[in-house]
Order: sequence, then structure tokens, then C-alpha cells
Amino acid sequence: MFRSAPLTALSVSAAATIVAAVSSQTYTWKNVKIGGGGGFVPNIVFNPSQKGLAFARTDIGGAYKLNSDDSWTPLLDFADDARWNYWGVDAIATDPVDPDRLYLATGMYTNSWDPNNGQILISTDQGETFTPSPLPFKVGGNMPGRGMGERLAIDPNSHNILFFGARSGNGLWKSTDYGASWTQIKNFPSVGTYVPDPTDTSGYNNDIMGLSWVTFDTTSGSSGKATPRIFVGVANKGSDNVFVSDDAGSTWTAVAGQNNTFIPHKGVLSVAEKALYVSYSDGAGPYDGTTGSVWKYNIANSTWTDITPVSGSDLYFGFGGVAVDVLRPGTIMVAALNSWWPDGQIFRSTDGGATWTGLWAWQSYPTLNRYYTYDDTLAPWIGPDRTITDLTMQIGWMMEGLSIDPFDSNHWLYGTGETIYGGHDLLKWDSGATRNITLKSLADGVEETSVQGLISPPTGAHLVSAIGDHLAGFVHNDLDKAPFVSFSNPTYSSSSDIDYAGNSPSTIVRVGTTTDGSQGKQVAISNDGGATWAQDYGAPDDVAGGKIAVSADGDTILWKTSSNGIMVSQYTNPFSAVSSLPSSAAIASDKKNNSIFYGADSSKFYLSTDGGKTFAVKGALGSSTSPFKVVVHPNVTGDIWVSTDKGLFHSTDTGSTFTTISGVSQAWAIALGAPKTSGGYPALFAAANISGVGYFRSDDAGVNWVKINDAAHGFGSASANCMAADLRIYGRVYIGTNGRGIFYGDASGTAPAPTSTATSTAVSSTSVTSSAPASSTITVQTTSSTSSAPSPTGSSAPLYGQCGGIGWTGATTCVCTSLVLVLFTVGADETHEAGATCAKQNDCKYNSCSSWERRLITSADYSQCVPS
Ligand SMILES: *[C@@H]1O[C@H](CO)[C@@H](O)[C@H](O)[C@H]1NC(C)=O
Ligand SMILES: *[C@@H]1O[C@H](CO)[C@@H](O)[C@H](O)[C@H]1NC(C)=O
Ligand SMILES: *[C@@H]1O[C@H](CO)[C@@H](O)[C@H](O)[C@H]1NC(C)=O
Ligand SMILES: *[C@@H]1O[C@H](CO)[C@@H](O)[C@H](O)[C@H]1NC(C)=O
Ligand SMILES: *[C@@H]1O[C@H](CO)[C@@H](O)[C@H](O)[C@H]1NC(C)=O
Ligand SMILES: *[C@@H]1O[C@H](CO)[C@@H](O)[C@H](O)[C@H]1NC(C)=O
Repeated sequence: MFRSAPLTALSVSAAATIVAAVSSQTYTWKNVKIGGGGGFVPNIVFNPSQKGLAFARTDIGGAYKLNSDDSWTPLLDFADDARWNYWGVDAIATDPVDPDRLYLATGMYTNSWDPNNGQILISTDQGETFTPSPLPFKVGGNMPGRGMGERLAIDPNSHNILFFGARSGNGLWKSTDYGASWTQIKNFPSVGTYVPDPTDTSGYNNDIMGLSWVTFDTTSGSSGKATPRIFVGVANKGSDNVFVSDDAGSTWTAVAGQNNTFIPHKGVLSVAEKALYVSYSDGAGPYDGTTGSVWKYNIANSTWTDITPVSGSDLYFGFGGVAVDVLRPGTIMVAALNSWWPDGQIFRSTDGGATWTGLWAWQSYPTLNRYYTYDDTLAPWIGPDRTITDLTMQIGWMMEGLSIDPFDSNHWLYGTGETIYGGHDLLKWDSGATRNITLKSLADGVEETSVQGLISPPTGAHLVSAIGDHLAGFVHNDLDKAPFVSFSNPTYSSSSDIDYAGNSPSTIVRVGTTTDGSQGKQVAISNDGGATWAQDYGAPDDVAGGKIAVSADGDTILWKTSSNGIMVSQYTNPFSAVSSLPSSAAIASDKKNNSIFYGADSSKFYLSTDGGKTFAVKGALGSSTSPFKVVVHPNVTGDIWVSTDKGLFHSTDTGSTFTTISGVSQAWAIALGAPKTSGGYPALFAAANISGVGYFRSDDAGVNWVKINDAAHGFGSASANCMAADLRIYGRVYIGTNGRGIFYGDASGTAPAPTSTATSTAVSSTSVTSSAPASSTITVQTTSSTSSAPSPTGSSAPLYGQCGGIGWTGATTCVCTSLVLVLFTVGADETHEAGATCAKQNDCKYNSCSSWERRLITSADYSQCVPS
């Protein structure tokens, strides 16, 4: 038996921790609206008892609650640096008896990338506040198979009882006290055997997927007594994988007659039909699946029926999401998990799976009949107007979450790898060949982007972003309105960094991350503040990712890559290697002097006065081992700030000498913004440890600090975040998170009077008194944790594995895998290079085998191709 910590409301418990250390100023925090989600939404779960109550979970950005106007409210924004793994939500359970109760199974990775165990977050107020119940094992909200489920289920007849199907061989767990304590059910027959890639040594693709879903048969019991019949799916392939108990979980058997060829992703009960619908795929998801099936289990006579909607050459995908319309027995829907071409696909049946219709059908090749009108008004950049490289699809991919509102047959929602779609006229689907539903982007309020870089230039739009996960980035002309377009022409699937030229601030450079041969040069330059772009023809083909700094006049670009080290180019001439600066250095340009660049590595600070061609060691950064960021005064050459693992350092003499800012034990993202008083020193912002990790502002160059984030805004992992400060609006700061989009904050409360005078650069110890966090619920991180993680240098990253990120020192090439789905438009010229470089998680989803042919992709090989 494992008991949870005492119940305390989290969002309250953190409130008092920092007050004694540094005074706070009230800030108003809002998401910069991108509006289209921006990442994978593994499932959407409706409460069966309260009309309109629904929740969505994401893999890196927490959970959301649906509002009556179709928008979503985030529930886990309080997660701070110590609780960053709360944003990986592997399962949701909303209570059918008491709809105020909500449970989330949280934890980011089951391997070493996340040092923390998982927890069940318990809410009794529909997600307003949560209490964590720690689990004695890890939970993998961002692991393979995260779209299966739900793994967490509440007994509908006795709602104190919950079951949780764990990963990693940890088996089936039960709680009888509303999730507060958990016990393993030791006689459950299978902990799971499937791993996506047994040869992976990172622990990511070789971990046991475990139990995939738990479904109570509500028809088998009566209110007040534990439900006798419970079905559990297990990620096994080729051995029993659907189990049942008829005695409330005391004993278990494999359901007879099952077909266990593939992995069961979902088990959804149709009460009226007394049937269990199970979707299967040959992979764990969410990216894979080349075949699968859908089966219906009639509980009354223990009969299985294969109801797979397509067969033969039409079956080139597995199945993910399953929905039943509880108001219309026999009306069910299933989603192709990944139909990469010509588009995603969803099937609907009104006769219990005997016959099906699709969201599209071939008219005659290559013309599709699309039985929907596409509406992306809430996020115009997401739709067909968007110029996209490799993902040409409207309907989506990674479709594991599909739900019909139990109170409204017209209302449906589904999650994709990028957003939430759905609509309010689903019954139109049933009107035959003239059917035409409206398929709408419905992720308003879900901001799940992984932000890689932010700038706030002194002219033009106040914010320009570099975003990961196929979004590339945006010029945010209006912070409260979804942008119309993302960066294009050249279009890179993702961006890893962005910078502007100090003397010519409408000149902006960005770096793309595409290395699969389809996109060529991965540096782009804009001279109009990001509205239009040109490729930098000096960039080598298919070198991608990393960090970038552009000289004050915009003529010279310094580029740090993981594959080619640090390189420099002037006037878009070919980049040449910079051997005098270590390849792991943080880089920056001076914002006024056109020939000055900076670098920081370990405890050394480097200066270049010849336009980045050569660097020489200048000052020392204390005992730092890992500088994070170099930021330069926008108006003053040589006024430099460096954040490191050992504190914050300031130089006013071009890096010859540095002052250590006392009281700051660690700092990550830093930024300089508009000064408080005209002509004063810029406002300095830092994500830092100043007697506790938080977000701080100093108006006097680091002497006095105010904490600007509050208990409701934790921003997740501090070391994964980036930051920009507005050069025109005093007090405004932009924080880019890894999974919760971009926040902007404005001071709304009065700043406390400074306690130290600003005449000295050293902080007096009285202004920063130490105070340990008071809450017992906060666990201190033992490693510098980001969602990226170490893996052995020199090895290849596994398919979908991590290949980069902040502080990344692991693999930078993809493994050669045996199968690839062709994601490219017919006719696109495509190569697959040996050991293609990769720079972020999921980069290795294309391929990198040594003997790929270079040729035009034809319609014949849309489904898959194999290395020659
Ligand atoms: C089990 O499923 C596989 C894949 O759908 C199919 O090929 C096979 O015929 C099925 N076996 C039985 C006995 O139905
Ligand atoms: C099992 O029950 C279902 C639903 O009533 C029915 O359609 C099916 O024919 C039955 N199968 C057998 C083998 O009796
Ligand atoms: C549905 O409506 C859209 C937009 O009006 C149209 O493009 C599409 O062709 C229609 N589909 C069918 C099958 O009529
Ligand atoms: C820029 O810095 C270089 C190197 O320190 C110096 O020689 C040059 O005079 C500076 N340029 C200006 C315009 O101050
Ligand atoms: C830079 O100088 C301009 C012009 O004096 C001033 O308006 C601006 O506030 C300064 N910016 C900062 C960050 O100090
Ligand atoms: C913050 O810094 C203090 C003082 O160095 C240290 O004891 C504490 O562990 C740090 N906190 C975190 C979360 O790293």
C-alpha cells in the first residue's frame, strides 16, 4: 500500500513560499493567442452526467476544461519548475457520479529524462485546484503510446474506486479512497510486453508500454456496489491483450475469442448495445501504424465481430480514436490513427459497424470528395491557407482522441498532432451522398506550442516567435488574436531560434530544423520585420537547428549548430567554421557595433571584434560550467549579461570584467526591456533561482528584484523556457514555454520600494534573504531538467526520439529504420540521406537510411517505402 501526501490545495500552497525572500509585484499574465493548439492532443473526455463538461489532455502542456463557448481553460498553469512533469498528462478521468471530481495521471517520461515519479492529481472542483497523490513509479505523458486509453477509470457505481493501468511493467493499480492511496493488483495477468524498439538504449522507445485502457461495464452492476465487470486492454501484440474481471477486479481472465494480432488502443462501451468497441493498431502510436482493425465485442453472448471499416489496399493505417453516440445506439465513429496521404480519415457507422462512410472518398483518382466544409477562422494559419512543407492535411494526423458529446449528437471533438477539430452539425453526416458537415478548428484557448525563441525588436511587431513542432513561428501583430499566417517561403517545419539586427531592427533571421533533404538551406532572412523572407544562400544544404545571432547591421550571421559547430557568414556568402569558439558556446551579437559578437562557454567569456571570424577569451564567469544565455544592452556596446548554472554575471566593459550578481544562484532565460524611467537602465528580467526558482525583474541592473510570477503561473521547467522583454513598454515581458505557448505579462500592481540603493552593483544580503519553499508538496529537482534529456553522445537517436533541445548533448543523427511513411506531396523531389542530422524530438520520423534513392515520389508509393 502506498499512501499519498496529506491533502493540500496546490495552487494555494505555493503562494506563501517566496514572499519572505524577494518582494513581489502583481502581474497580469495572458497567453499570446496562437489559437490552434500547436501540439498533440491525445484525448478529449466528456463527463457522462453533466452536460457540457469535458476535458482535453496534452502530452507536454497540461490539461484543459471546455467552456460553453467552445473555448478551453488551462488547468495546470500553476506547475512550476519543480512540478514541470505535471504538464505530461497520460490519462484523464471525470467522475460520472460526482462531476466535480476530476483525476489526472501526470508525469512526463518513464526514462531518465524525467527524474520524478508520477502522480495522480485529484480535484474536487472540476480542476480549479488539485491535490497530488504521488505514485511509486513514473508516468509517461510524453512517451510512446500516450494516445491509448484512458488508462485511468472511475467505477461508475462506486466512485471511490479507481483503477490505473501503469506503464513500464508496473501493472494494474487500484484505489478505494478517491485516488488518495493506491495498491497494485498483483494477480492481474499481464503487465504488457510490447516495446516499440527493443534496440533503443535511451529508455524511450524500449520501455514497456504497459496497460492501455480500463473500461467499466456499467451494465453489469448497480449503484452503490463495486461494478463487477471490468475490461482492461494491454499493449501486447500476438498474445492475449483484452482481459476481463467479473468480480470487481478480484480475478481476471483473457476475454475468449479475441483477436490479438494488433495492440488495442481504445475500449469504448456502448451501454445500449451492451457492446465493447475496440480499435487496434500495429504500433503504439501516436506517429506510427500501418495496419489495424476495429472489433465489436457483444457482452451478452461473448461474441467478437470484426467491423474494420476498410480492407485490402485501402487499409494502410491503424485505428485510434473511437466514439459512440450514447443518444443513438449503434452510431459509432473511428479515426484512422495516421492516414498520412491523401489526408487523415474518420469513419462513421449508424448500424453498429456493419456499414461505414468516410469523411472523404476518392471520386476518381486524384480527385477527392471531401464531405465537409473546412473552417479555420479561430486559427487561420492552421488551414489550407498555410504554406506547409510536409503536412498537407486538413483532417489531421495522430488521431487518438475522438468523442461525441453525450448530451448532443451534433457536437463532436477530436484531437490531432496539432490541434482540436470538431463541430456542431455532426448529424448532417447521415444525410447520404450530399452530406457536408462543417469541420472546425476548435482549439481556442489551447496554447500547446513548444517555444524555441522570442524577440521583441524596437520597431515593428512587438513580438516575433520561433516555434517547434511544425509551427515554425509567427509575427504577432496582435497578441490577443490568432495570426493569419505562420512563417513561409521558405517554410521550415519548425524553427529553433530567431534574432534581429540592433541597428536595422526590421532585419530578422531565423533557423529551420528540417534535415530530411526536402528543404535545403535552413537559414532565412527578412528585411521587413518577418512579413516576407528569403533563403540565406550561404547556408549549407540540410544543416539545421541550433542558435543564431545577427550583427547589428544585419550583414553577418553567426550560427551555432550541433552538426557543424559554430559558423559565420557575411553578405550571405557560404558559412565558414569558427574554430576559436567552442561549439557548445552560447552566442550573441552586439546590438550597436556591427563587428562585435560574443560567446560564453564553461567559465570563459569570448569576444570577437572582426565580425565573428575569430574569438578570443576575455573575462571569466566565476565557477560557471554551463552558460545559458548572453544578452546585450540594446543601446550600449559592451554592456552584457550572462546567465549560467552558477548565477548571473554583468559586464560593462565588453566582457573584460564581470560582476557577480549576488543572491542569484542560477539563471536561465534573461532579457532587457524598456527602462522604468526615460534614460534609465533597461528593466532586467530573469528566470532565476533567487532563494527559489521564479521569474524576476530588476529596475536597477540587478540590485533589487521583484518576483513577477505568482502561484497560478509557474511556466513549467525554467531551463526549457525562453524570454524577451518589450523595448517599448516598460514592465512587459514575454515568456516562451515548452508546451504552454507564449505568455505576456504586464505589471498591474505597484512595485515595492527598493531596499538597497542602486549605487553599487553588488546586492546587499538584506535585500535577498533566504527562505526555503514552505510547501511539502514541492519536490526539488535533482537534475537540470528540461523536456530534452541526455543520451550517449555519438549514438543515433531512435525513431521519434529526442535529438536536441536546450543543453542537449546527446545523439544528433537519426537511426536507419526499416520503414517510412512518405509524407510528401506527390511529385515532390525527396532524398533521404545517411544518418540525417536531427535537432529535436520527433525529428527522426522520416528516415535516414544510407541507401535511399533520390527520385520523384509517385502516387504509387504513398503508403510506405522500404530502403533499397
Ligand atoms: C485476426 O486479425 C488479423 C488482422 O486483422 C486477420 O488477418 C486474421 O484473419 C484474424 N484472425 C481471425 C481468426 O479472425
Ligand atoms: C450476439 O449478440 C448480437 C447482439 O444481439 C447479435 O447481433 C449476434 O448475432 C449474436 N451472436 C451470436 C453468435 O449469437
Ligand atoms: C462541402 O462543402 C465544401 C465547401 O462549401 C465544398 O468545397 C465541398 O466540395 C463540399 N463537399 C461535397 C461532397 O459536396
Ligand atoms: C566597433 O568595435 C570595434 C572593435 O572594438 C572598434 O574598432 C570600432 O571602432 C567599433 N565601431 C564603432 C562604430 O564604434
Ligand atoms: C534606447 O535608446 C532609446 C533612445 O534614447 C530610448 O528611447 C530607449 O528607451 C532605449 N532603450 C532601452 C532599452 O534603454
Ligand atoms: C536555489 O538555490 C539555492 C541556493 O543555492 C539552492 O539551495 C537550491 O537548491 C536552488 N533551488 C533549485 C530548485 O535549484
